[in-house]
Amino acid sequence: MASVSFEHVKKIYDNKVEVVHDFNLEIADKEFIVFVGPSGCGKSTTMRMLAGLEDISAGTIKINDRVVNDVEPKDRDIAMVFQNYALYPHISVYENLAFSLRLRKMNNEEIHKRVCEAAEILGITEYLGRKPKALSGGQRQRVAIGRAIVRDPAVFLMDEPLSNLDAKLRNQMRSEIILLRKRVDTTFIYVTHDQTEAMTLGDRIVVLKDGWIMQVGTPQEVFDTPHNLFVAGFIGSPQMNFLKANLVEENGKYSVSVLGVKIPLNEDQNAALKKNGKTSQEITLGVRPEHTTALFNSQEDSVECTIQVNEMMGSELHLHLVTKNDDKIILRLPTIDLTNEQRSQLTYGNKMYITFKAKVMHLFDPQTEKNLIYG
Ligand SMILES: Nc1ncnc2c1ncn2[C@@H]1O[C@H](COP(=O)(O)OP(=O)(O)OP(=O)(O)O)[C@@H](O)[C@H]1O
Ligand SMILES: [Mg+2]
Repeated sequence: MASVSFEHVKKIYDNKVEVVHDFNLEIADKEFIVFVGPSGCGKSTTMRMLAGLEDISAGTIKINDRVVNDVEPKDRDIAMVFQNYALYPHISVYENLAFSLRLRKMNNEEIHKRVCEAAEILGITEYLGRKPKALSGGQRQRVAIGRAIVRDPAVFLMDEPLSNLDAKLRNQMRSEIILLRKRVDTTFIYVTHDQTEAMTLGDRIVVLKDGWIMQVGTPQEVFDTPHNLFVAGFIGSPQMNFLKANLVEENGKYSVSVLGVKIPLNEDQNAALKKNGKTSQEITLGVRPEHTTALFNSQEDSVECTIQVNEMMGSELHLHLVTKNDDKIILRLPTIDLTNEQRSQLTYGNKMYITFKAKVMHLFDPQTEKNLIYG
């Protein structure tokens, strides 16, 4: 059982460089939280401060309302799994799992019980007698996770535990972590730079950039209502398209003017913009590739584009288009409904027409980069 709270936490390395700034976050007991962001944004540093492996330069970290700033790592009831496994090479898998328990002078019977239970959960019982070097990468990663499980920690920290594995094994381990979470049923904090991992694992995601929290929310929230350009671009694949556009306010009604077409906004968007006191202004319009409609023929309010690249992904195509103004737009087109004739048209230099739906448009201020509706 453990809740975790970060209050105004900062990290300054070598008394000069501040790499985590005013970090505030409440994590509930048994919540699965994912820190996600590009390399160097401070994910590991934040995690290591919680584990007690780095000093906290300012602020307070609490575990279950107990301030742990000056508590030794071993007394924080936390277990951490690292990217590089860090197994002891000269002892068996069994002894690797038992190691921390022996240090704690636990009796042999209890150690045996915990090691066997963890091995069972992770499906590594048959490898208990082997040395780590006789295991595959995925099996070693399971042992590394097992070493954390046997300790029965209040908080489970995982720092990019899957990044050394190949794509297929990573997908498999990802679903195993979801199952593990149900069995272990404790608080998890998981670090990754992979947005798919973040989306599939997290109850809530914390998106970080340059040591700042950009947004905290459920996977659906950060996908549907990104608070700023960074989150909009970081979450989702292929990346959201961004276009220069104008927000137009006329008699209290809002519309977006983009590439020569004007799209009236819906009631909710109108109400929010009015509430936020917005008037006509330049904007950066964001539209996801899966939310852009492609047409083979022009219609009212469609924008003409030229096909540059057609990437065949199997169940869908990723079409890279360019507008007359040289704006680049990617869209996703399911292949199942396309006729052979249509497929043959989807080649370099041919025309396509796109339309925009108000409901799936994201409006950002080009200067502040904030979402005009939710930011
Ligand atoms: N011991 C250190 N001394 C000085 N600067 C450090 C130290 N450790 C990390 N940094 C810097 O702090 C910043 C955050 O690093 P951190 O390791 O937390 O990033 P990260 O988000 O985990 O990145 P990655 O995805 O590459 O693991 C980086 O700019 C890094 O160079
Ligand atoms: Mg890191």
